[in-house]
Amino acid sequence: MKRCRLAVIPGDGIGREVIPEGLKALRAAGRRFGFSVETEEFPWGCSYFLKHGEMMPQDGLSTLRAFDAIYLGAIGDPQVPDHVSLWGLLLKIRKAFDLYANVRPIRLLEGIDSPLTGRRPQDVDILFVRENTEGEYSGAGGRQNEGTPDEVALQTSIFTRKATERILRYAFDLARTRRRRLAHITKSNALQFTAVMWDEIADVVARDYTDVEVRKLHVDAAAYQMVLHPDWFDVMVGSNLFADILTDLGAALQGSLGLAASANLDPTRTYPSMFEPVHGSAPDIAGKGTANPLAAIWTASLMLDHLGEISAAAAVFGALQDVVRRREFRTPDLGGRSTTSRLGDAVVEALTAGVGTT
Ligand code: NAD
Ligand code: IPM
Ligand code: MN
Repeated sequence: MKRCRLAVIPGDGIGREVIPEGLKALRAAGRRFGFSVETEEFPWGCSYFLKHGEMMPQDGLSTLRAFDAIYLGAIGDPQVPDHVSLWGLLLKIRKAFDLYANVRPIRLLEGIDSPLTGRRPQDVDILFVRENTEGEYSGAGGRQNEGTPDEVALQTSIFTRKATERILRYAFDLARTRRRRLAHITKSNALQFTAVMWDEIADVVARDYTDVEVRKLHVDAAAYQMVLHPDWFDVMVGSNLFADILTDLGAALQGSLGLAASANLDPTRTYPSMFEPVHGSAPDIAGKGTANPLAAIWTASLMLDHLGEISAAAAVFGALQDVVRRREFRTPDLGGRSTTSRLGDAVVEALTAGVGTT
């Protein structure tokens, strides 16, 4: 890749603070590894909504289509209902571009004291694969008799064989590139239709991967075991909502949501994939310049990996890991006093100095 054309949507709150740091790291990686990063920024999000009555323009999706990738900060502002802002932008893009594999690394970095006493980096190294287009987030449903005592709300989960099978296969394939262990997350004791079909499909797909050790966990038990035995897990795969919740738990295992990276991938490469940290717009700390930019920078590394810049991706991650290991610069979420941009600069300095070559 000589040229990388990026659509940048900083979004709201701390999204606007962390994305510039990710871009600095991408540009520094480009200088070191010989590619150019061409960005076009889109001011879409809640302030756009308050001005224009929509989260992005009508032709927003076709505009995004032309790019190699989308880099997004976070969406959400207390002045706009969350379901309006998220369904108007983030969830719309995931669905319209069929970004079906949401991949979220959960790694305890060297230099981070785990919130779990005694756990070390080798104990927490999970790759979470989240089904990203349907399930509990199908968007099907409605409300009737609103505001009356007879009100009814329906929110229907939709699980298709096609989407279930493709995400399970994707996760099995990833397990083969790692420690060959897969945990699939279900709730087939209570959800007798959707989760039972999920389990059946997992069993069928597993027959094509006899070299991968498979474990089935109900989601409640998975939450418990991730805390007590994170070292059991290698690749985990789950439905949209289950994996949403478990990846915030994963972020806690990492020590902060400010370290949790995420890639929304279209493995068929028909559409641009979208890269965004796991965290939200964090209104409680927005505007202070103290958000942790490392999740956004790690996310940039996932983007480079997807775009084929494997060495640059490894170098960005390596520089980030180096800065964390040295413990000199850290934002308040990790007990430090550094600002967002100082920490971002530290990563760029490490990257420019040649740190992070594997
Ligand atoms: P949140 O992730 O924004 O914040 C949860 C907690 O983690 C807060 O205390 C916050 O200060 C802290 N935190 C998050 N990221 C941090 C970082 N980089 N550095 C330091 N601390 C960090 O979740 P929330 O409070 O539930 O949601 C706030 C808004 O963001 C809501 O509008 C929600 O809908 C939205 N949201 C958007 C996305 C997204 O766009 N991808 C993801 C999650 C939530
Ligand atoms: C995430 C977020 C989103 C999700 C919200 C903001 C809709 O929590 O990416 O984890 O639930 O997918
Ligand atoms: Mn989430």
